Amino acid sequence: MMSSTERIHSGITGVGKYFPEREVSNHDLEKIVDTNDEWIRDRTGIASRRFADPGTGASDLALPASQQALEMAGVAPDEVDGIIMATITPDMVFPSGSCVLQQKLGAKRSWAYDLSAACSGWVYAAAQADSMIRAGMAEKILVVGVDVMTSILNMKDRNTCVLFGDGAGATLFERMPDGEEGLLDIEIGADGAGGEFLYMAAGGSLKPASAETIANDQHSVVQDGQNVFRAAVEGMSRVTLDVLKRIGKTGDDVDLFVPHQANARIIEYARRKAKLDPEKVMLTIDRFGNTTAATIPTSLCIAMEEDKLKRGSLVLISTFGAGFTWGGAALRWTID
Ligand code: UT7
Repeated sequence: MMSSTERIHSGITGVGKYFPEREVSNHDLEKIVDTNDEWIRDRTGIASRRFADPGTGASDLALPASQQALEMAGVAPDEVDGIIMATITPDMVFPSGSCVLQQKLGAKRSWAYDLSAACSGWVYAAAQADSMIRAGMAEKILVVGVDVMTSILNMKDRNTCVLFGDGAGATLFERMPDGEEGLLDIEIGADGAGGEFLYMAAGGSLKPASAETIANDQHSVVQDGQNVFRAAVEGMSRVTLDVLKRIGKTGDDVDLFVPHQANARIIEYARRKAKLDPEKVMLTIDRFGNTTAATIPTSLCIAMEEDKLKRGSLVLISTFGAGFTWGGAALRWTID
């Protein structure tokens, strides 16, 4: 078997993030739906989130995040080989959000496509970028996780509207020089039987937009919170432990755990299962809520800003979301 230093690695060489300016606190939401700050904090860990103004597309958030990531990596837009945008809220059904971003960014040589895996989108996209780089198909791939969740939220439904926020995180994956580690292991999975617990009913081919779908509020997120919670607690813990096991490490070896930010209680459960110290857990849900595909790349970026990552740090990532889909990854941090 090839040792970890012999195989080709991809690694992250730049990160960037962008959140809309408008900050919406739990108290602000109390004025819109029957909820309260205490319930939201206790049940989710969320204190505040950012909402984009109407008329904002996913590419508008993805652009500054991508520019920041490229600048950090010292890579010009026309050096990018490919763009994978993980999102469930692209600017429009087609052309893809990635193509819109490619044009805005000036990434003239790049192919571009969107990937739909909800909260697992960034991990799924990272798996594809890593595989393509290792196969020699590309050397520099921009992996963006972005969602404008407010575009699909029903602001009358307190079960969902308090949970989500808008944001974009960008990561540049590059082929590492020979002998250097980067992404060590990645796993993705799905169970379509979970589809009935978290979905948006209309706007696809099955139920195109009509006066009826609009009247029935079928263009917004529906969630059976308890069923998703149970599956997420189990699924996120399982994938976190799987990845650790495959790289032959324990919670003690991990420098930073960067989980999907859907609920602080789900994260706490996975942390305990993986026997990780609380200070090794990256939490951004308090400030930004659940930004779906953006939670992990934005959290990586914030971790860098807060000096929680240095070159060589062992980073453990895991996620669980609609589909159901899930994913986990371990990587050596490759930015100074
Ligand atoms: O990222 C994608 C994956 N998504 C997730 O991982 C989310 C998983 N689910 C969850 O995080 C949690 O299930 C929620 C945060 C969504 C809900 O928390 P919960 O502890 O499961 O609450 P619940 O749904 O069992 O509701 C408990 C009570 C209910 O009232 P009754 O029936 O006990 O009287 C709800 O009606 O809380 C009520 N409730 C609220 N109260 C105040 C529900 N939403 C709210 C609210 N404010 N916003």
